[in-house]
Amino acid sequence: MNTNPSLPLQTSVSRASRIAELEQRLLPLLGEQAWIPMRGLLDEVLRLKAETGALILAHNYQRPEIFHGVADLTGDSLALAQLAAQSESSLMILCGVHFMAETAKLLNPKARVLIPDLQAGCSLAESITPEDVRALREQYPGVPVVTYVNTSAAVKAECDCCCTSGNAVKIVEALGAERVLFLPDEYLGQYVASQTGVELILWRGHCEVHERFTAAKLVEQRERYPHAQLLAHPECSPEVLAAADMVGSTAQMADYVSVQRPAEVVMVTEQEMGRNLSVLHPQTQFHDLAYACPHMQLITLEKLLISLRDGLYEVSIDEDIASRARRSVKRMLELGRGGKA
Ligand code: 13P
Ligand code: SF4
Repeated sequence: MNTNPSLPLQTSVSRASRIAELEQRLLPLLGEQAWIPMRGLLDEVLRLKAETGALILAHNYQRPEIFHGVADLTGDSLALAQLAAQSESSLMILCGVHFMAETAKLLNPKARVLIPDLQAGCSLAESITPEDVRALREQYPGVPVVTYVNTSAAVKAECDCCCTSGNAVKIVEALGAERVLFLPDEYLGQYVASQTGVELILWRGHCEVHERFTAAKLVEQRERYPHAQLLAHPECSPEVLAAADMVGSTAQMADYVSVQRPAEVVMVTEQEMGRNLSVLHPQTQFHDLAYACPHMQLITLEKLLISLRDGLYEVSIDEDIASRARRSVKRMLELGRGGKA
């Protein structure tokens, strides 16, 4: 998790100095053509943010101008959930995908939670419905059901506990069961099974971005960058993970780079992750395969500006679904802290 220092952005002078500082960091990454029209947008977003008191949370896959430019808090899905739960702000804008905004709303129901584009979905969340979960429960009576947070609140409501890529191994182990239904990411489930003695019954959901990586592509990257460390997200297939040097959530990859300070890395994950890290770690050379998440890319500075200006788009969850889904998310946070199964 990263926090941007909150600056006095009420005056145009303070915003101008913030934008000048951002220019130093972002111009080399974005290039002049992209950067110049962004300056006015950044100024207006920073002004509206100060005026509305909104708290902006951004996932590690967000565009650099959002991640570095205007976010108050950044991190992986787990950190964003924890930060949303702790926030005292009455208005949060989630720059990420819809399930992340729903999770923030579940954990902080009194706050207004906005997402700049309601269409920002996720192929994993699309892969399973509440009816599917109910049918699995009938097929496997008594088997606990863990769902990846990359699902709708309605799916979370049918499950016993959530997990993220950062805590999935810990959550599955903490349940103390011999068999667990693990939904919907097949590859994350296979990774968790390889790290635990638990038998996992899996669903065939995949991330449309991470399933594009293949072991052959990693071999190519290794030949091209023989001194680079290959860092992979556990949403990749087992063959890809076996060909990587490190496997972890987006926050775990960020920590790895901060602590190990490798000279060169290949990011086996969504493209903005390495671009965002490269601004923070000039000592490391970042390579990637330029696979963007089309849902994350829907969130732009222009849409964030409209969101702040017009209060759009508010995330709301049916109360019955919300109370059951909240139980699953809260159980994850308790088990993650070492609480009771
Ligand atoms: P993290 O929780 O590791 O940030 O992953 C979220 C995600 O959607 C990865 O594709
Ligand atoms: Fe979903 Fe994959 Fe995009 Fe993450 S990268 S939000 S898992 S589609």
